Amino acid sequence: MALLEGKVAVVTGGGRGLGRCHALALAAAGARVVVNDLGGSVTGDGSGDAADAVADEIRSAGGQAVANRASVADWAGAATIIEQAVATFGGLDIVVNNAGINRPASLIDMTEADFDLEIAVHLKGTAAVSHHAARVWADRGAEAGRAIINTTSPVGLHPMPDGGAYGAAKAGIAALTQVHAQELAALGVQVNAIAPCARTRMVMASPDVDALMPQAMGFDRHDPAHVSPLIVYLASGLCPFTGRIFAVEGGEIAVYDPWHARLRAAQDRQWTPETLAAALSDAPRQASIRAFYPGGIIDTKSPPNRTLKALAAAGALG
Ligand SMILES: NC(=O)c1ccc[n+]([C@@H]2O[C@H](COP(=O)([O-])OP(=O)(O)OC[C@H]3O[C@@H](n4cnc5c(N)ncnc54)[C@H](O)[C@@H]3O)[C@@H](O)[C@H]2O)c1
Repeated sequence: MALLEGKVAVVTGGGRGLGRCHALALAAAGARVVVNDLGGSVTGDGSGDAADAVADEIRSAGGQAVANRASVADWAGAATIIEQAVATFGGLDIVVNNAGINRPASLIDMTEADFDLEIAVHLKGTAAVSHHAARVWADRGAEAGRAIINTTSPVGLHPMPDGGAYGAAKAGIAALTQVHAQELAALGVQVNAIAPCARTRMVMASPDVDALMPQAMGFDRHDPAHVSPLIVYLASGLCPFTGRIFAVEGGEIAVYDPWHARLRAAQDRQWTPETLAAALSDAPRQASIRAFYPGGIIDTKSPPNRTLKALAAAGALG
């Protein structure tokens, strides 16, 4: 029996890039799929849209799929995605929150519209689709084999300049993953997130990132199809994890440990700025981190040296 035989899956932003590969992989593993994406022609002649094209591709291969054109950023639109899964296929087991956009801009240059859109599509979109799914599961009662798979980013876990809105939204998705894993465990739902690296339309629109993901002969590590087996695994009974984040790039997988704190000092009276300065005087200004960026794991520092140098040059550091 196929790994996801009989399961019903929703993939947001499933018309292109990673989402398309996830939808095809879930269908190939036996799931019936609602392929969500914004309406809009992929042929240029207005004869079809992205979600339709992927649903057609799944049906042509013998699978079951329907298209949905709602925006995940619209709370009521997100509800239609979940309603369509239940109405068409009789239930819901797997939600892949993948829809995304990227409008890089520095804090100085960003616009309110771009900031709002990043937060709406990524953070609100993930919360909205998951909320409507959770309501269905709560009404039906506990059942094993349910999964939500969110999409964060290396940029959400290791923030970079010009990635404020995108990085904050993606960091928020990491937080939602941990919150929802705890809230939905009693309903049999495992909630995890991926942080992918793959050559897609989004990446190709950003020359710096595109340069890190060249087309390769042989095993093309940045082919988005290499990410999707992780989605199938996280959606299946093979996965024992919940509330965790998995970075993936080609043949490399990294499992993130959550944030952790190190106690520097403790006392049973209120701190003053001066006693805090003394207590923290030997704490390093930088923290060592193991980051997962395009190219795999790198050991790095946060904040980077250039940040400390810029502060020192501005006379801000003692
Ligand atoms: N490609 C990478 O290396 C990379 C790295 C980190 C994170 N991601 C994340 O992976 C996800 C997929 O991105 P991709 O690289 O495949 O990009 P992509 O642009 O190829 O695909 C994104 C899809 O989401 C759809 N979408 C956008 N807004 C939507 C909305 N409001 N409602 C429904 N669908 C919407 C788009 O129409 C598009 O088809 C995104 O969340 C992205 O942030 C990608």
